[in-house]
Amino acid sequence: MSQKNGNTDTRYTFKIFRYNPDVDAQPYYDTFVKSYPRGTTVLEALLNIQETEDDGIAFRFSCRSAVCGSCGMLVNGAPVLACRTQLATLIGDQVLIEPLPNMDIVKDLVVDMKPFWESYRRVEPWLHADSGNEPEKERLQSPDDLHKLDPYINCILCACCYGSCPVLGMEEDYVGPAAISKLFRFMQDSRDQRGEGFLAKFNNQRGLWACHTIFRCIDACPKDIRPTDTIEALRRRLVAYRFKKFFRLVK
Ligand code: FES
Repeated sequence: MSQKNGNTDTRYTFKIFRYNPDVDAQPYYDTFVKSYPRGTTVLEALLNIQETEDDGIAFRFSCRSAVCGSCGMLVNGAPVLACRTQLATLIGDQVLIEPLPNMDIVKDLVVDMKPFWESYRRVEPWLHADSGNEPEKERLQSPDDLHKLDPYINCILCACCYGSCPVLGMEEDYVGPAAISKLFRFMQDSRDQRGEGFLAKFNNQRGLWACHTIFRCIDACPKDIRPTDTIEALRRRLVAYRFKKFFRLVK
C-alpha cells in the first residue's frame, strides 16, 4: 500500500501481453508496477499505463460503461469486460492481461473478431417475419412475450463467451455460444416464423451438438446470459421436431 493525496492506493504489478504479428517473432509480456485508488477499473489502469508508460499498447474500448462490448479481454485468465472489472475485486496484486482466446491477434489485446461475426451471421440474427402477411403498422408483441426475450436481448456481443469456449479452441467451425443464444432469442420471439425446421442447419457437430456443456460461457457472460441453457433448450426442440417428423406428425 502507498499513501497518495491522503488516499490509500494499492500497488499492482501488471503483466500485459504484447504482440505485433508484423514485427514480433513471438508474443512477450511487458511488466508495469503502478498504484491506483480503490474503484479503479482494469480499463482505467490500461489507459493510464498507455498514457504514462507506453503509448504503443493496443486495446479496444469505447463506452467505458459495459454497453458497447468492445473491451473484452482475459484478466488473470478470466474473460471479462475491462471497463466493469475493478482492480480491487481481483485476488492479490498481480494483474495478468491477455487477449481473448479463439481469435487471431491483430495487435497486443486487440483480436480479429471476423470469425465471431461470421458465426453470428450463420444464425440469421434478424426477425423472420411472415412475409406474405405484412401488418399495416408494426408487428405487435404482448409484454409477456417480450419478457421471455429480455435476458437474450441484453447481449452486447463482447465475445467473452466466444473467447471462453474450449470447444472453439478445438473446432473453429463451431457456431459458438453467442450465436446460438441469439438464435434462441429469435426462436423464442412470438413474431418469428422460421419454425423448428430452421434448426436442421445446426443438427451437426459444428452446431448444436458441438457443445460439451462445460458452462464456461455462463461464467464469462457479463450480462448474466446463460448460453449453455439456450443450447440445451434448442437441442430439446430439435429432438422433438425430429421425432414428430419421423412419425409424420409435422411436414
Ligand atoms: S468499453 Fe464498452 S463495454 Fe467496455
